[in-house]
Amino acid sequence: MSGALLQVRDLSLRFHRRGRTPVHALEGVSFDLDAGQTLALVGESGSGKSVTALAIAGLLDPAAELMRGSVRLAGIELAGASTSTLEKARRELLGIVFQNPRRSLNPIRRVGRQIEDALQARRPRPARQARERAVELLAQVGIDRPESRRHAYPWELSGGMCQRVMIALALSGEPALLIADEPTTGLDVSTQAAVMDLIAAQARQRGMATLLITHDLALASGRCQRVAVMHAGHLVEDAPVGALFGAPSHPYSQHLIQATPRHGLPLAALEAVPGEVPDLGRGDLPACRFAERCTRRIERACERMPVLSSTGPGHRVACWNPL
Ligand SMILES: Nc1ncnc2c1ncn2[C@@H]1O[C@H](COP(=O)(O)OP(=O)(O)OP(=O)(O)O)[C@@H](O)[C@H]1O
Ligand SMILES: [Mg+2]
Repeated sequence: MSGALLQVRDLSLRFHRRGRTPVHALEGVSFDLDAGQTLALVGESGSGKSVTALAIAGLLDPAAELMRGSVRLAGIELAGASTSTLEKARRELLGIVFQNPRRSLNPIRRVGRQIEDALQARRPRPARQARERAVELLAQVGIDRPESRRHAYPWELSGGMCQRVMIALALSGEPALLIADEPTTGLDVSTQAAVMDLIAAQARQRGMATLLITHDLALASGRCQRVAVMHAGHLVEDAPVGALFGAPSHPYSQHLIQATPRHGLPLAALEAVPGEVPDLGRGDLPACRFAERCTRRIERACERMPVLSSTGPGHRVACWNPL
């Protein structure tokens, strides 16, 4: 596992809340991501996908307390790093597409200019070259008439258009790691394919690694080499895509796969995952946070947290009674 571009180890954090118990958002999250690889991070709403992304990028809100763990990107420790180290890493190594499309756009600067700024911050070049590259990037993410659209302010563009600008912006710095949180949700199917093609091309040409956060298991299976499954702030399974979909080990992964629409299968055959993601502010969470929803539960699961252990090549699962 050593030598990966991104190494996340035992990442554990909580959010403090005034007058209430803290939210235990992440516990013991560990995974690796190699250059050129695409890893999907999947799991129901509230499982900690976005918090993991924000923790890697050092962009958590002040209520978050990092309790343990390490995030190494290209050999640089980012967990608990200084603001200047984090800013440098974000400028030089990271591209981020947030779940909220307007979050990373500056409302009072024209979108073309924002991309040019990012290009110049990464590597200074003549203004005309930056302008041409910005137009090229806007065209690549499916914005038509990019020559005129580059003059628009974010508020003049639709949500889907802002999302595409954000993807162009994230890729403009030629990042070593792209973190994309639901990057294509809400885009039409052909734009979604174009954006994913663009990400795949960057992965191939430059060895860019991608952490793709998505609800869409079909997208994950078609576009990623590996899948990591999160449930209630735990990483429960991490496997090559074929192994995860062909022979999931964690009961939760199996439920998620069964809840995913598939070609040729009637929608009525879909089964929802039983129960709900537990409230992470509870003081009495079971050690395995899936235990209360699990039909394969054994007593030990409520007392001791299962650690990720190997079940096959590149395949790890955290379960006391795996499939
Ligand atoms: N600033 C915060 N303060 C308190 N709790 C938070 C904060 N941000 C996130 N959380 C909690 O952390 C947990 C994980 O949230 P997160 O946003 O990472 O989920 P997610 O997997 O990205 O879900 P979704 O698929 O809906 O985007 C949730 O219980 C959430 O309520
Ligand atoms: Mg999220």
